[in-house]
Amino acid sequence: MLEKHIEAGKVLKIVREEVKDLIKPGVKIIEVAEYVEKRIRELGANPAFPCNISLNYDAAHSTPKKDDTRTFREGDIVKIDIGAHIDGYIADTAFTVDLGDNNDLVDCAEEALKSAIEIVEAGITTAEIGKTIELTIKDFGFKPVVNLTGHGFMPYIAHAPPTIYNFAVEKGVKLDEGMIIAIEPFVTDGVGKVAERGETEIYSLIRAKPVRMRIERDILSEVEKYKTLPFAKRWLKKAPDVIMSKLVREKVLRAYPVLSEVKRGLVSQAEHTIIVEDGGARVIT
Ligand code: CO
Repeated sequence: MLEKHIEAGKVLKIVREEVKDLIKPGVKIIEVAEYVEKRIRELGANPAFPCNISLNYDAAHSTPKKDDTRTFREGDIVKIDIGAHIDGYIADTAFTVDLGDNNDLVDCAEEALKSAIEIVEAGITTAEIGKTIELTIKDFGFKPVVNLTGHGFMPYIAHAPPTIYNFAVEKGVKLDEGMIIAIEPFVTDGVGKVAERGETEIYSLIRAKPVRMRIERDILSEVEKYKTLPFAKRWLKKAPDVIMSKLVREKVLRAYPVLSEVKRGLVSQAEHTIIVEDGGARVIT
């Protein structure tokens, strides 16, 4: 089990480095997403979720739509969040590329992640991690996004307990040796909260209930292979919005709408997957 997480992490380490150089003004966003997903497969894993590319005040859950024509632009602050799995054992990592003059925001997320990883060891609580992240972020004069968190993993589930808050909480949970967690501070110059902005490109299967329409059945048979992991609408042959919404209403699919900073603050993110060890942590991404 641990070996498969570690293997998935090795794949991400390679893809992470390769993709950094691709993010430039004028480059199509979909090209980068497709490159990431293709490389994960070539290197012997599978995407654990669609490549998330969230720009500026979008914080998470943004991925290009089919035939997306948008390109990166001068001034963009670009979050890339990528996941890979082997037989359901996941690794998850993210970083931010600054195409403008928001280096501080990017450095802050990296520093917050670093300070958190530095204190992790068996026996520590998630409350201590949250406190360290919050203090580091406030030192830079920014705010943590309070409703986006790090997480644990379960087979084919990318966000499992424990929740790793990006701010000080009263009562955390204790981390034991051998636990695998993702720490992912989100930093903003806004108010520190995200909300759905009504556009959805990412879904996951809740339960394959019997559905009446042919097109619904086609979609379900197509997404079965992702089990409970998120998939992109652009991965499907045919996925009209009305049908996707119907499947969400019928509680067959879960929707992951794009999450944006509520006061249109810029957002940066950094993330690594780590194994909690006796006396320290091992970064696998
Ligand atoms: Co994550």
